[in-house]
Amino acid sequence: MASSLDTLLSQGIEELRLALDEAALRTWQTRWFGKTGEISQSLKRIAQIPAAERPEYGQKANAVKEHLQAAHDAALLVLQDNTLENDLAKGGIDITLPGRRSSPGRLHPSTQTLRKILGIFGELGFEPFTSHEVEEDEVNFGLLNMPAHHPARDMWDTFHTTRPGWILRTHTSPGQIHAMRRAAPGPLRVVLPGMCYRYEQITSRSEIMFHQVEGLAVGEKVHLTDLKGTLLAFIQRLFGDKRKIRLRSSYFPFTEPSMEVDMDCILCLGKGCGLCKKTGWLEILGAGMVHPTVLKNGGYDPETHSGFAFGLGVERIVMLLSGMDDIRHFWANDWRFLKQF
Ligand code: PHE
Repeated sequence: MASSLDTLLSQGIEELRLALDEAALRTWQTRWFGKTGEISQSLKRIAQIPAAERPEYGQKANAVKEHLQAAHDAALLVLQDNTLENDLAKGGIDITLPGRRSSPGRLHPSTQTLRKILGIFGELGFEPFTSHEVEEDEVNFGLLNMPAHHPARDMWDTFHTTRPGWILRTHTSPGQIHAMRRAAPGPLRVVLPGMCYRYEQITSRSEIMFHQVEGLAVGEKVHLTDLKGTLLAFIQRLFGDKRKIRLRSSYFPFTEPSMEVDMDCILCLGKGCGLCKKTGWLEILGAGMVHPTVLKNGGYDPETHSGFAFGLGVERIVMLLSGMDDIRHFWANDWRFLKQF
């Protein structure tokens, strides 16, 4: 009986030698190791063997099984190696092809410009200070010198929340109060970046959400000339050192005096064109000297301290830098627009 196992082994090896590709190897595997394959058949036969010979037969049958399995695995490895070599030889795989380019995400144009702006103010000594997008009505308006029913509140159409007294901030200026209360009575020089919200009609020129960067400096000797110098340095670093600025009288309840800051048009260089509506100037930001009442609300003594503040819209700057003409592109999430930056 044991000798029939020897025959089985040599037969298995012989058939394996004739299996020249992976399909043939799979057929061999089923024929020898399948449920009704040769190996299970010979293991079943153990029942017909006289009890005395059974242990020896069993051991040998297992040895044959292991031997054949090992021979099969080795043959498979050789075949797989050969397949790769054959493919390479036939040129089926072009190993000189460049890899597939993966397309990692990128920063949104607003974020890119926001970071550039913060970088410039960083060089000028302004530290970033973040405050929250959901703000108390009292901080967004009241402490900024606009008590309830103050007509100037109309300048900022507001999104209210379901929690009475809490709104989506309409500008970054309420951050002035938070920053001052943290620093007073010490000196302060910060920029406050962040998203603002206004309940407005969406058009090519106005959106319901946009980024602002607020600037604030408070100290014992802060003058209007410091504001002018800071803004000129900023604008020249962002738009080129030929740029000029002009201050135009304006009104904000939280600054006194208040002004609008213009820069000479980057397209026509002041001659007058479509971009600057023939004026030669582009409005860039709002600014002013911090109102004494606001200084007091921030914890400073307006008799000894003064400050300047300004606020600019980031998307407007991106539009000027890139020649975009419709603010609605920013949140449309169109990859064809975004990938240009
Ligand atoms: N907060 C004002 C706005 O949103 C801008 C501003 C900031 C003006 C600081 C003066 C000082 O329009």
